[in-house]
Amino acid sequence: MKAAVLPAYNEDLQILEDLELEGPKANEIKVKVAASGVCHSDLSILQGRLPVMPPVILGHEGAGIVEEVGEGVTRFKPGDHVVISWVPQCGTCYTCEHGQPQLCETGAMVAVTAGMLDGTYRFTRDGEPIRQMQATGTFSEYTVVPEISAVKIDDDMPLDKAALIGCGVLTGVGAAVNVANVQKGDTVAVIGCGGVGLNAIQGARIAGAERIFAVDTAASKLDLAKEFGATDLIDASSGDPVMAVKEQTGIGTLGMPRGVDVTLEVVGFAETLKQAIGMTRAGGKTVFVGAPQLGATLELDIFMDLFAMQKIITGAFYGGSDVNRDVPKLVDLYKSGELKLDELVSRRIKLEDVNEAFRAIEKGEVARSVIIYD
Ligand code: CU
Ligand code: ZN
Repeated sequence: MKAAVLPAYNEDLQILEDLELEGPKANEIKVKVAASGVCHSDLSILQGRLPVMPPVILGHEGAGIVEEVGEGVTRFKPGDHVVISWVPQCGTCYTCEHGQPQLCETGAMVAVTAGMLDGTYRFTRDGEPIRQMQATGTFSEYTVVPEISAVKIDDDMPLDKAALIGCGVLTGVGAAVNVANVQKGDTVAVIGCGGVGLNAIQGARIAGAERIFAVDTAASKLDLAKEFGATDLIDASSGDPVMAVKEQTGIGTLGMPRGVDVTLEVVGFAETLKQAIGMTRAGGKTVFVGAPQLGATLELDIFMDLFAMQKIITGAFYGGSDVNRDVPKLVDLYKSGELKLDELVSRRIKLEDVNEAFRAIEKGEVARSVIIYD
């Protein structure tokens, strides 16, 4: 059984062939992984910026085919095609029942253990447990996940495209649609046009936004942003992006440029978070989508931005997604041609090329590298 394991922070992933994978226990399924995207969050774990401890199998954006089901599994049978969700959603806890399954109290367990819901592990090497990020671990030919970490999809949906839905698409499109609740005719700014940012842009487009400002420092990403629906491209490498956006949004209170209805920040740095608040209009929404570093803080002008201008500033965790509702919806949007997935795939690679894929992310070269398994 072959998988890519992070042995220690700031080291390359090791491709190991001698891992053992135990079969699925109660309410778990074994999945033959067909494809996995390589996401910035995988790199953040490698760099020690997110609280997941090595040794761990990374990869959390995958799709595959159910191989075996554990006792009590009712929603799947061998042969089913599934998208893997990095937030298990139980449907019955307090937050699930309050329409916030992205914050599932049962599922939150896997963020802490990086194992199964019962705190145990299915992967081992020489008898030592190997963790799997968010109970997913899609940088592996096979994985075992909780039943509530998978969503069945139609057999005719290509699995390499379906994989992307599992993180980047749910996170980006969901932030625009579920969390920002972008409305027809809205003006929207998206700061950061990588894999998730491009999805925030297409989410805003699908929701009917009239103008979409794409903000990035890389010209190649701005070109892609246009393809995904951006109407205005703002090069943040020269000049102040806040003014560049605001001066195109009309005149608001006290003769000042108004700002956009919605800003989606998809970088996670204090500087870009401040820019996001700055370009949002009075009464508008600023949504933080990018994962900041653990423990990061932000200074706020609470008189102007929160009190006088009543901006709504919120995070968006996993795009505020209900995976059982949203994954099938996104599959349908792809089939109808509205959701672009083919264009997200910059490179199709083998598991052995995963470290190279991280370097490409660092250089800002790709929207997504996708690992294809045989
Ligand atoms: Cu991700
Ligand atoms: Zn729940």
